[in-house]
Amino acid sequence: MQRTRIDWVAEQSKLLRGIAEEFTRTQPFAGLTIGTGIHLEAKTVALLLTLQAGGAKLVSTGNLNTTQADAVERLRAHGATVIGEATKDAAVHATYLAQVVAAKPDLILDNGGDLYMHYLQSPYPTLRGGTEETTSGRMRLEPLRDKLNMPILVINDSPIKQFAENEHGVGQSALESYLRITNKTINGERVTVFGYGSVGRGVAANFRGGYAKVAVVERDPVLKLRAHLDGFETPSRDEALANADIIITVTGAQGVITAADLPKLRSGVILANAGHFPEEIDVAGMLASPEVASQEEYADELLTLRLKNGNAVHLVARGHMFNLAGPRPIGNSIEAMDLGFALQARCLEAVARGTVTATSCVVPVPATIDAAVASAYLETRYQ
Ligand SMILES: NC(=O)c1ccc[n+]([C@@H]2O[C@H](COP(=O)([O-])OP(=O)(O)OC[C@H]3O[C@@H](n4cnc5c(N)ncnc54)[C@H](O)[C@@H]3O)[C@@H](O)[C@H]2O)c1
Repeated sequence: MQRTRIDWVAEQSKLLRGIAEEFTRTQPFAGLTIGTGIHLEAKTVALLLTLQAGGAKLVSTGNLNTTQADAVERLRAHGATVIGEATKDAAVHATYLAQVVAAKPDLILDNGGDLYMHYLQSPYPTLRGGTEETTSGRMRLEPLRDKLNMPILVINDSPIKQFAENEHGVGQSALESYLRITNKTINGERVTVFGYGSVGRGVAANFRGGYAKVAVVERDPVLKLRAHLDGFETPSRDEALANADIIITVTGAQGVITAADLPKLRSGVILANAGHFPEEIDVAGMLASPEVASQEEYADELLTLRLKNGNAVHLVARGHMFNLAGPRPIGNSIEAMDLGFALQARCLEAVARGTVTATSCVVPVPATIDAAVASAYLETRYQ
């Protein structure tokens, strides 16, 4: 039988495989329903089926526009209730989220805080708590702690997630995606990375590892010092714009590169963003700029702007996260996601078993879970 990518991911997710074997025996979610609102793709299938092995009934929907049909098919074949399909329409997607919450799950696995926000609109007494995957979700939920009053563990605030996924995972997938989408060399090219948080550090290190000449623009002087001590050039913003062959934004801010910068850029520069918001590079503003004479759209999400001064500016994925774009986007490594999803499984187990209480409302992953997941990963490497 031809095995699929979902099978390959399940096979290679060693932490989740180990947890699923244990959960099959220990059944931490017996009799409980878990409502999930996270991308539905091969790696999350491995996570969700691990929770199901622990006795959970699953009621799941994806995130806006990321649901993959083969993932839905696989989950339904295993008896999970999957609501909706890929849609770019936020109003339609909201009806899917509402249906998940209407099933009154005992636990919630959220990605961005949407499910908890729906819960607050029509609360019910049996929700025990759950997890939140992202920083943006944490920022939405923090002011609502009094109303939520239940254990909610934030996966992104684990140090493991910070260095395994944000730094190493995104750093590698950004390099892999840049090469795959553009098919251009980075050897000897001048790359400027805007932002030197965990994601920027990984991107800068991976491009340097690929023999590019990497500079960092960081507005926080402490992190700028860190980039300097890590051996990167730290030019002024304008100097970087004038010299870079490739510019990558990873700041989480908006309007980092705008239409006003077009005349400052080298001809042939490639602009790409790996930060959460597509507005880090203000593509809409650039397209509307009087500096732009014409544009040429190529296959695989490449767009060239021809400026009136004769220069060309190339945009990758119109400023959307390019490590998740282009032909056959496979995202971060299986191992990076296996670590983050092992944290998810262990945190949901802790909430189900009542080992964390309402005092842990919108807080980082407990240090004991970080330590257990780190040790388990190392054991899979040395066994
Ligand atoms: N592409 C992916 O798969 C992926 C995965 C995880 C996180 N992210 C996103 O990547 C972004 C960065 O994440 P992080 O964890 O490194 O965040 P972070 O907040 O730790 O780091 C961002 C850095 O950018 C700097 N910065 C902000 N505005 C700037 C500007 N105009 N010029 C120069 N520097 C500026 C900040 O000082 C900060 O040090 C976020 O949007 C995050 O959501 C993307």
